[in-house]
This record gives sequence, C-alpha cells and structure tokens, in this order.
Amino acid sequence: MNQAKGLIFLGPPGSGKGTQAELLSKQLQIPHISTGEMLRQAIAQQSDLGQKAQIYVDRGDLVPDELLLDLIRERLGRSDSQNGWILDGFPRNVAQATFLEELLAELSQFSDQAINLDVPDELLIERLLLRGRKDDNEVTIRHRLEVYREQTKPVIDYYQGRGRLCSIDGSPSPEVVTASLKQIVTA
Ligand code: AP5
Repeated sequence: MNQAKGLIFLGPPGSGKGTQAELLSKQLQIPHISTGEMLRQAIAQQSDLGQKAQIYVDRGDLVPDELLLDLIRERLGRSDSQNGWILDGFPRNVAQATFLEELLAELSQFSDQAINLDVPDELLIERLLLRGRKDDNEVTIRHRLEVYREQTKPVIDYYQGRGRLCSIDGSPSPEVVTASLKQIVTA
C-alpha cells in the first residue's frame, strides 16, 4: 500500500489502541506514534519532560498540553512521518485536536480517519488489571476512564462532526479487531 496514511486511534484505556497500532504500523510500514509510550520513556530516563509528566501519568490525569505539543510537532516533522503515521493517544482533548489540525496543515500532511475502538468498561478494567502496568491498578484505571469520558470523548464528537470518524467494536479477539481495521484502512 503506497498511499500516505494518517490514522488517529481513539478509544478508552485498554481498548487496544496500542496493540492494533503496533500491528498495523508494521503492515502499512508507517510509524506508530504513542504519546503514552513517549511519556513512559521520558519518565524512565527522568528527563526534564519525564519529571514534569510523572505525577500526572501516575495519577491517571492528562499531562498539560504544553508538555506534549512540541513533542508531536517534532515527531510528525521527521522524515519517516512523511508517508503516513498512526497516532495512538493523541489527541486527547479538543484543544489537542485543534492543534493537530493546524500542525498538519502547516506540514502539508493530512489525517484520513479517526478510528474509535469501542469496548465496555468492565472488559477494559479486566484487560488492564491483567496487564498490570504501574497505572493499571483499579483506582487509577477508574480515574483514567473518568478523564476519558470528560476530556477525550468530545474528541470523538469533533471527528464525527467533520465526517471523519469510524467506530468499530474492539471487544473481540485482537485478530478479529485487526480484520475490521484492515477493511477500513484499505477501503
Ligand atoms: P496511554 O499509554 O495512551 O494509555 P491509555 O490511553 O490509558 O491506553 P492503554 O495503553 O492503557 O490502552 P490501549 O487502548 O493502548 O490498549 P492496549 O493495546 O495497550 O497514556 C498513559 C498516560 O499518559 C495517560 O493516562 C496520560 O497521563 C498520559 N498521556 C498520554 N497521551 C497523552 C496526551 N495526548 N495528553 C495528555 N496526557 C497524555 O491493550 C491493553 C491490554 O489489553 C493489553 O494487555 C493487551 O494485550 C490487551 N488487549 C488489547 N486488545 C485486546 C483484545 N482485542 N482482546 C483481549 N485483550 C486485548
């Protein structure tokens, strides 16, 4: 597949954004850009960004926008992003979505689609407790879900209002979800 693809993965914590983005990025040969992963690396290195972000990530709150915008600008400006990318975990609120639209126009890039992975809360909690990342304890998971409902759900409406949202059921096995995704991105 040679056509440039800009795909935005949306969905609550544990919906499979990272799992599916990783698989699809290999198949489409475009980078998987995960802001959560970038932040976890920065925290592990205790960089300036990591030190500032840690308290928010540990609590399950969004880190302030200003900590992420330059990071995204730099990452999408790299040469390997010119043929497409998958964004996983960004945008996370409407201000980030607006920033992204402006940045893509500046970089002469575009996003084809925002793909929302829909999964019921109880299944999300079950998956995350099984994985057990530092922010995967039940109290923090429930808080992340609240933050998602309050701040990230409006991003779904943002893309829906622009006719660029596609929702799929993220509950079945990873293989079944991948098959649904492929139908969308190759359509
Ligand atoms: P981030 O890393 O983005 O975490 P998240 O959104 O909570 O997402 P997860 O990684 O928990 O879930 P996922 O949907 O990727 O699912 P996954 O594939 O991993 O962000 C972490 C923190 O960083 C945030 O809380 C915030 O503090 C900060 N942050 C990040 N971006 C930010 C931004 N833009 N602005 C501000 N702050 C930001 O799967 C989860 C588990 O389920 C895995 O074990 C997996 O194997 C399993 N699984 C996946 N799919 C299936 C399936 N179909 N069936 C069964 N199991 C499955």
